[in-house]
Amino acid sequence: MLIHLKVFRFDPQTEKAPHYDNFELQAEPTDRVLDLLEKVRNEHDASLGLRRSCAHGVCGSDAMRINGKNALACKKLVRDLNSDHITIEPLLGLKVIRDLIVDMKPFFEHYESLLPYLINEEPLPTDGKERIQTEEQVLRYEDTTKCILCAACTTSCPSFWADGKYIGPAAIVNAHRFVFDSRDRAAAKRLKILNQQFGVWRCRTAFNCTEACPREIKITQAIAEVKRAITTGKLD
Ligand code: SF4
Ligand code: F3S
Ligand code: FES
Repeated sequence: MLIHLKVFRFDPQTEKAPHYDNFELQAEPTDRVLDLLEKVRNEHDASLGLRRSCAHGVCGSDAMRINGKNALACKKLVRDLNSDHITIEPLLGLKVIRDLIVDMKPFFEHYESLLPYLINEEPLPTDGKERIQTEEQVLRYEDTTKCILCAACTTSCPSFWADGKYIGPAAIVNAHRFVFDSRDRAAAKRLKILNQQFGVWRCRTAFNCTEACPREIKITQAIAEVKRAITTGKLD
């Protein structure tokens, strides 16, 4: 099939404003959007800027707007778009460095501010075993361990668009992963940060984040659980 591909282009170092380039490509319905972009780079314009690494939905580096919706280019098939016209744009709410490459620094600063690692200063069990958890304790936070930090959620959130200081759903998801881990001892510290001005209360339950997540994490539910933990002081 013939695909009409429209791609956002912008080099802030040399251009005053963005523009779109159009390409006509032959594609199979089972081709991925990433395959189309690689074809553009290999056969039409090697200067097209984009991030990609694993090409299999694992590394989270190729999130972008595809026909207006955030998705991973390596996971989105041409046939799933139900159109032979495909528009590719960078994620919203983060500064464009070049073409489809955005500045992820603020995103990772928000993530790091919530201490996304296990904190437990207590001595390890003396029998040499790990800190054992029950199946129920693992299920409490298992969903949020699936995050690949692609930023599709945060950059689809209207509260984040309104003010980039909002910590955003991805950071909250990764805080949730440790707040509800029975082995961790820093939940109170994380919840205090989340209770601040640009923390979890900026979430207006818009659900865009949950719809955008390529890992199908129940983000809005995780955010609600964090809000409840702050108001009740309980982690059950
Ligand atoms: Fe991406 Fe989902 Fe993680 Fe958000 S929660 S960064 S959409 S994997
Ligand atoms: Fe934004 Fe998701 Fe809340 S889109 S407003 S973080 S439910
Ligand atoms: Fe790694 Fe798409 S290239 S998730």
